[in-house]
Amino acid sequence: ELGDYRHFMEKEIFEQPAALENAMRGRFAEDGSTALFGGLNLTPAELRQVDRLVFLGCGTAWHACLVAEHLIERFARVPVEVDYASEFRYRNTPLDRDTLFFVMSQSGETIDTLGALREAKRKGFKVLAINNTVGSSIARESDGGIYQHVGPEIGVASTKAFTSQLLLGAIIALYIARMRDMSFNDGVEYVKAVKSAPALVRRVLEQAPRIREIAKRYAHYKDMLFLGRLSLFPIALEGALKLKEISYIHAEGYPAAEMKHGPIALVSPECPAVFFAPRGEIFNKLVSSIQEIKARHGKTIVITTEGCELPPGVADEIIYLPDCHEAVLPVVATIPVQLLSYYIAVERGCDVDKPRNLAKSVTVE
Ligand code: F6R
Repeated sequence: ELGDYRHFMEKEIFEQPAALENAMRGRFAEDGSTALFGGLNLTPAELRQVDRLVFLGCGTAWHACLVAEHLIERFARVPVEVDYASEFRYRNTPLDRDTLFFVMSQSGETIDTLGALREAKRKGFKVLAINNTVGSSIARESDGGIYQHVGPEIGVASTKAFTSQLLLGAIIALYIARMRDMSFNDGVEYVKAVKSAPALVRRVLEQAPRIREIAKRYAHYKDMLFLGRLSLFPIALEGALKLKEISYIHAEGYPAAEMKHGPIALVSPECPAVFFAPRGEIFNKLVSSIQEIKARHGKTIVITTEGCELPPGVADEIIYLPDCHEAVLPVVATIPVQLLSYYIAVERGCDVDKPRNLAKSVTVE
């Protein structure tokens, strides 16, 4: 089953272009400007009544919820709240009447997410699921939802399940946006961008040999930082989580601009930082944050966009992403940190597919 790959995680990383194709197959309307989600069991009129969304998940799925929040608020202009499923179920949050819930769970069996779903339903809310396992407990108990259709994920560290959750979050943002402010033309452009995700991911995967060389130079560190802003802050969290779980290197994901409020105290030649600095309105701010790290002699691995010029001396290593629409940037930016974590773990001789203390599906509280 592994073919030429050494680990399922490696196979699942490289399968992502095909997995993303599967996740979005049949999800677009014929007019090319919006999405189709037959399984939501909500009419457009019912969806228009919704004035708040709550997204719940655990671990990697919670990171995907944070990206969905960003894209839905940005494009559909509907307020979104994200919570850890484990916290939501005991918090007794006050909730508005016209609130719709989404739970994200690859396995569909995570007990905290199932508990949160039951709590929301008990209170009379509709709960939709984004889920990769047909017939799972969460699929059965939700009021409707969206299957990820990326096939079973064997590696304990989530890869293709995560990027497909990101892509579906982007398509949900489009669907809701097109019922509200987004124009036909902007919808067409958005659909084209989402459809280009597999090709963009393939272009980042082609850089794997270079990322592997970088990984070899960083595999001996004990601590690492992952920094990003806006839609890539959750990807910084995801990069840090991947590195921790499979290589046992202590890593922290942080919003880049928050560094100066405390964590910059950690920066030293012994603590490298992986930095997301894509093209965009805040590119110059991101460059200043990288310079603050360099001034304290921290090593920097900068993930930026092709064609972006970084001032000399700010990046010890540079990884380029193809230029892309905001809707797919989080998916594209995830690939280098998956590869980096994977190759660092391999370099350290770790059991990548079965990291210590972890189970694929967490069915205890
Ligand atoms: C990390 C990872 C976990 C899961 C989490 C939720 O790589 O896989 O953080 O994302 O346990 O799992 P699901 O999505 O099955 O609910």
